[in-house]
Amino acid sequence: MPVDRTSITLAQRVDLGFPRRPNRLRRWRRGLSWGALVLGLLWPTVAAVRNQRRLYEAGPVSQAHQLWANDCRQCHVDTWAPAARLATFDAEIRSTPDAACSVCHAGAPHHAARSGLSMSCADCHQEHRGHDALARMADQFCTRCHHSLEATLDRPPQFVSQVDSLATHPEFALLRPVERVAGQQTARRGPAAADGDQWRDPTPLRFNHAKHLAPQGLLRLDGSRQKLECGACHEGRPGSGEILPIRHDRHCAACHDNELQFDSLRFAGRPVPHGSAELARAAMIELYSEYLAAPRDDDPEPLPEAPVRDVPGQPTVVSEEGWQWVQSRLAAAGQLLFGRHEHGCRYCHTEVERAETGAWQVPPPRIPERWFVHSVFRHDTHRLLNCTACHHDVERSSQTSDILLPKVENCRQCHATKAAGGSARADCVECHEYHHGAGDDLDGPFSLDLQLTAPEKVRRPWSLSGRGEGAAP
Ligand code: HEC
Ligand code: HEC
Ligand code: HEC
Ligand code: HEC
Ligand code: HEC
Ligand code: HEC
Ligand code: HEC
Ligand code: HEC
Ligand code: HEC
Ligand code: HEC
Repeated sequence: MPVDRTSITLAQRVDLGFPRRPNRLRRWRRGLSWGALVLGLLWPTVAAVRNQRRLYEAGPVSQAHQLWANDCRQCHVDTWAPAARLATFDAEIRSTPDAACSVCHAGAPHHAARSGLSMSCADCHQEHRGHDALARMADQFCTRCHHSLEATLDRPPQFVSQVDSLATHPEFALLRPVERVAGQQTARRGPAAADGDQWRDPTPLRFNHAKHLAPQGLLRLDGSRQKLECGACHEGRPGSGEILPIRHDRHCAACHDNELQFDSLRFAGRPVPHGSAELARAAMIELYSEYLAAPRDDDPEPLPEAPVRDVPGQPTVVSEEGWQWVQSRLAAAGQLLFGRHEHGCRYCHTEVERAETGAWQVPPPRIPERWFVHSVFRHDTHRLLNCTACHHDVERSSQTSDILLPKVENCRQCHATKAAGGSARADCVECHEYHHGAGDDLDGPFSLDLQLTAPEKVRRPWSLSGRGEGAAP
């Protein structure tokens, strides 16, 4: 059978007009394409008419910013920045410059680092990730610099140069021997310590923890016995997680007020009030003057005659002779209160001075209220532990100068990564601040209808003194 299949007959069998001829499937496809285009244009148009901007976001802004969830311009002040970033491959070009955040937030600079490593707000505070807490961030945003402060700074760092994780965190400075960090002598807190010495607590008081925690308890002035727990002296400040400062009148007086007796013959049971030396002196003058108006019959000393004019309701007026007697008594009582070794004020205070005029002075001891000023810590979060679980050596400490704070090893028992079996978080921001109180400026830029009342008002970085920023340790 002859084969009459030539290229010509074959070509005639193929309908060359097929792609142009309409059919059902093709009509549907075309309709769908146009529909999609119209919808794609309609959606933003309707959104624009209804003033809805949220379809352009990858995810909602964080909870704290929900007030402005639809008002993109509060943060995105630079419309063409994403395009410019694409065109120039410059990741530093942002549609949300720091200045936009600064209208509402101070965001104080962390430390004067070399400008090359300075970071934008949006680097650390990543938006459009749902309702994550914006202030939480991974360690990598800290270790960008803290992997090597030496490389970050153009001066020797005052703090340990490399901190990469809690697991490799250096021992806390106050528990390390005094040292030169990268060749620079750090500011000192304790009495002049040489390299290699331990830091000391410089509080000018005598206080012996071991003696006061004696298990058999201690004798009070009223004759009763009391077993002291930590909480008898270290009370918590409600709601803050802080420990209240020690107060003599609240925590020591019930057992030690006898040290403030100055003339037990005439004023048994009437100690001077605790406070400045001037206060004690004024109280003694008042007591002696009053005494001259109504002395004991059996006073062992010859008293000045007709010494006082005492009008009821008026201050006692002392005669010249009476005043001299008061002065001589004051000198003796002062010697007893201020001058005796380990008695009177010196029973507790190690610094008692005498001015050239002869006046006694007792400088306030200023017991530090916070020790780890470069980190945050709350006692209430840790109340499941007993105090000596962290403050190990307190029950054996007999010197005020002992530092009784926990070591980093102690924190690692619980604070560690999940992989390392930790039960509490171990990221830098769990324990450290970045802005050091920049949110403390309470006067905001908005009125109640959320109109900017002072557009020129830009939150200034807060004054940084004494808020963690500053010298080590
Ligand atoms: C509270 C501030 C804030 C608000 C309000 C806000 N954004 Fe953002 N947005 C950001 C930040 C911060 C980034 C990250 C910018 C960067 O990494 O440079 C961002 C990034 C974006 C991006 C990616 C493009 C870019 O510049 O990186 C888009 C798109 C975007 N936002 C859309 C919106 C839209 C739409 C709205 C309003 C519905 C909105 N945003 C509201 C803070 C905000
Ligand atoms: C229009 C005002 C406004 C602007 C602009 C603004 N914020 Fe906020 N922000 C707020 C308010 C209000 C809060 C909630 C109260 C607070 O914590 O101060 C807040 C809270 C925060 C918080 C803490 C809340 C959390 O979840 O941890 C961070 C961090 C923050 N903002 C960062 C930024 C950054 C970064 C920018 C710039 C991209 C920015 N904000 C722009 C008003 C603003
Ligand atoms: C290196 C990362 C980093 C950068 C950069 C950064 N922050 Fe923060 N920010 C933090 C950390 C950590 C916290 C939480 C601890 C604290 O308060 O310091 C925080 C907290 C905040 C808070 C909430 C707490 C408060 O003080 O009210 C605001 C608001 C804030 N930052 C704004 C800003 C602004 C504005 C900028 C840019 C000028 C900025 N941040 C840059 C790390 C950063
Ligand atoms: C841009 C670089 C940079 C980044 C990012 C950075 N730091 Fe720092 N940090 C420094 C410098 C610089 C110092 C001061 C060093 C000095 O003066 O010797 C410092 C000091 C510190 C100190 C000790 C002194 C103090 O102020 O308390 C702590 C703690 C600290 N940073 C924690 C953090 C944490 C937590 C983060 C991340 C949220 C962070 N840093 C991110 C540069 C940075
Ligand atoms: C009788 C009162 C009293 C009792 C009870 C007491 N303390 Fe103290 N504590 C003080 C005084 C006063 C100071 C300040 C003098 C000093 O720095 O040592 C102090 C200081 C401290 C300090 C910081 C000082 C440093 O050098 O580190 C710690 C920590 C401390 N006490 C823990 C404890 C613990 C834990 C207990 C219970 C086991 C306890 N204290 C019981 C009176 C007391
Ligand atoms: C419950 C009673 C009680 C309280 C409260 C108390 N003490 Fe004492 N304290 C004593 C007794 C008892 C002694 C004598 C212990 C001894 O010598 O064996 C003593 C001894 C001392 C000594 C001499 C220590 C020594 O090494 O010889 C000083 C200093 C002292 N206390 C200071 C204080 C201070 C400061 C406070 C308040 C923060 C305080 N005490 C609270 C009962 C108390
Ligand atoms: C039993 C021990 C003890 C004796 C005795 C004692 N003090 Fe104090 N003093 C303290 C303690 C503890 C503090 C710190 C807590 C406080 O401020 O109440 C202190 C604080 C002070 C302060 C600072 C007060 C303030 O508010 O900042 C002065 C001033 C002072 N004492 C003077 C004296 C004088 C003067 C005497 C003698 C007349 C004296 N003290 C006797 C334990 C004592
Ligand atoms: C469990 C709590 C905790 C965590 C997590 C933590 N730190 Fe610390 N860090 C501290 C304490 C407490 C100090 C001592 C502060 C002081 O001496 O005032 C400290 C000290 C520091 C210092 C000063 C170092 C020195 O002694 O010169 C730096 C810098 C520092 N931390 C950075 C970091 C960085 C970066 C991270 C994250 C990788 C981090 N820390 C994680 C608690 C922590
Ligand atoms: C989880 C460990 C931990 C436990 C438990 C703990 N502390 Fe502390 N304590 C610390 C740390 C860390 C500091 C240093 C905090 C700072 O200065 O910010 C501190 C500081 C102190 C100070 C000095 C004042 C101050 O705030 O710096 C006193 C006093 C004190 N603790 C007493 C106690 C008492 C009393 C208890 C028991 C009720 C207790 N602590 C339980 C870790 C602990
Ligand atoms: C018995 C386990 C345990 C030990 C030991 C411990 N912590 Fe914690 N810590 C916790 C738990 C649980 C939380 C609360 C849960 C969380 O935030 O992960 C916490 C929370 C914290 C916080 C955040 C507190 C807040 O409420 O803002 C800081 C800061 C902190 N710890 C510091 C320390 C330091 C510094 C040490 C060592 C001196 C330490 N912790 C030792 C269990 C512990």
